[in-house]
Amino acid sequence: YFIYFLLFYPHTLILVSSYHQCLFPLHAGGQYEYILVEKRGEKNNVGFIQLNRPKALNALCDGLMREVGQALDAFEVDGDVGAIVITGSDRAFAAGADIKEMQNRTFQECYGGNFLAHWNRVSTVKKPVIAAVNGFALGGGCELAMMCDIIYAGEKAQFGQPEILLGTIPGAGGTQRLTRAVGKSLAMEMVLTGDRISAQEAKQSGLVSKICPVDQLVSEAVKCGEKIASNSKLVSAMAKEAVNAAFELTLAEGNRLEKRLFHATFATDDRKEGMTAFVEKRKASFQDK
Ligand code: HXC
Repeated sequence: YFIYFLLFYPHTLILVSSYHQCLFPLHAGGQYEYILVEKRGEKNNVGFIQLNRPKALNALCDGLMREVGQALDAFEVDGDVGAIVITGSDRAFAAGADIKEMQNRTFQECYGGNFLAHWNRVSTVKKPVIAAVNGFALGGGCELAMMCDIIYAGEKAQFGQPEILLGTIPGAGGTQRLTRAVGKSLAMEMVLTGDRISAQEAKQSGLVSKICPVDQLVSEAVKCGEKIASNSKLVSAMAKEAVNAAFELTLAEGNRLEKRLFHATFATDDRKEGMTAFVEKRKASFQDK
């Protein structure tokens, strides 16, 4: 009967299929429920992750963050991908960890199960990650953006750590990364009052590196990703490791690590190619070797 029905009403199949797509936005592999994943850029070399839980303003439920981790794992081993962009919607990058999911958790569950430890995957990716933030980046949303290497903000973006208003504190780097990014006074004010800052204040204080019109934010972030992806992936990873060391080490230790990594670039074909291309007045062609 169903086949008979489709013979006469073939458009039904399109309706059923698009309804299904709406409910279950899947990427080619079909395993994602809360995010959209694809490759962008002229050379398809920018991994693109869009948080896609609009009804909850992209609240970062456990399933969503597990999927982000899986997508990052896939991009990490994808030889074509040289940079990754994470974004949300125009209204919200992410409004924080999922409060409804956390509401009834006990200390024993949190501590025993190392609650939210897997979020850390975002900060351990070797490839450069750019957060493109439109709308709210609150609590865990702000922390997720700060786990990325570069933050671009849309003109209407708002950043905040409002956990104090819920009787808790930031738990995914908010007190640490925010303080390093904007300094003690502003970080204290944000963490203790829960007040948000605008994109302009975020730019002024060094939290974000660029502000873009809302509708151009994602393409600007992808452009930045393409620029990064056109360099050697191997050497980019070393550069990222060196900059990140500035947050972990003393100046002397950091400079020492930097020097060792700099020396290590001389073991790569790409360093040779880069300098040879300069001398021969041509564009370098990096092989990630
Ligand atoms: C679960 C959330 C949510 C969240 C929004 N929603 N934020 N659900 N967790 N963090 C849901 C709402 O319940 C609502 O769904 C829908 O999204 C729309 O939200 P509204 O509040 O109706 O929208 P609006 O009035 O425009 O206000 C937007 C907002 C507000 C200012 C962003 O939603 C808000 O204050 N959200 C919470 C922000 C926050 O406190 N974040 C920190 C979370 S704690 P329903 O179905 O109910 O209508 C945290 C800790 C991190 O992140 C610790 C380590 C990771």
